[in-house]
Amino acid sequence: MQVVNNLIDLRTALRDIRALGKTIAFVPTMGNLHEGHLTLIQTARQQADFVVASIFINPTQFGENEDLSGYPRTLEADQKHLIADGCGLLYLPNNAIMYPEPDLTRVEVSKITTLHCGSSRPDHFVGVATVVLKLFNQVQPDVAVFGLKDYQQLTVIRTMVDNLFLPIKIVGVDTGRAEDGLAHSSRNNYLTAAEREMAPTLYKILQATAKEIKSGQRNYERLTRLAKESLHAAGFTPDYFNISRQLDLEPAQTQDTQVVILAAAYLGKARLIDNITFEL
Ligand code: PAJ
Repeated sequence: MQVVNNLIDLRTALRDIRALGKTIAFVPTMGNLHEGHLTLIQTARQQADFVVASIFINPTQFGENEDLSGYPRTLEADQKHLIADGCGLLYLPNNAIMYPEPDLTRVEVSKITTLHCGSSRPDHFVGVATVVLKLFNQVQPDVAVFGLKDYQQLTVIRTMVDNLFLPIKIVGVDTGRAEDGLAHSSRNNYLTAAEREMAPTLYKILQATAKEIKSGQRNYERLTRLAKESLHAAGFTPDYFNISRQLDLEPAQTQDTQVVILAAAYLGKARLIDNITFEL
């Protein structure tokens, strides 16, 4: 696996790959790679001839009181995993490369970014859309792979790609989970042993709520209230728990058939997010 840390080397390497007629699949990450990320690399390998991954802890998507400085940095282990999973090139830009001065441009996808994570993290998705568009322009992949774990992020990126006519196929990959159902996440590192035991409850409550809806329950307000009560009872501080429609992430109406339940909750220091999608 080739490792590059600047744009000139990236472009040179990718020019050579394209000259061989190879297609490129791209997996952007912030590192601290776990099994969830590695499924994205495996999917990328199925989608194109050559896989590029990036690790960049993007400052503009973190709020002032969030975990930017403490975000886990595990480059050596990450590189080993990427090599084992068949990544061909790892791009490691720094802040100066990603945000050259004067740094005056931001990408804003409106409306869907005000909901869910956007309501408690107001600038988060501007940071995500901006860095992802920059990375897309640098790598110019044929395909880019993202996790359904960050369902709203994936929706924001699909919208940006459609709205700006970016010639990139976006592929979503199912959430990778531990055996007990907890979604793999870098933020699980913040959990104490006792919190780690409780953490799968978030997904259990999502599953239980989905089951109620599938069996005909349509009082979404009541289901939301009950779910939040269950989260509190399990030691979580819920941020949001929203029964929405997949199309635009707006609150689901009883006639909607494509549903996603999105949830975020604090457990100790960790803010866990998860979701479940289903059809009625
Ligand atoms: P990061 O949290 O490192 O995630 C990188 C990619 O891995 C995202 O597409 C995310 O959805 C996916 N992912 C994380 N956990 C997963 C899991 N358990 N199962 C499947 N996929 C999972 O998301 C970001 O970084 C950043 O916002 C980024 C897109 C890189 C922009 O900075």
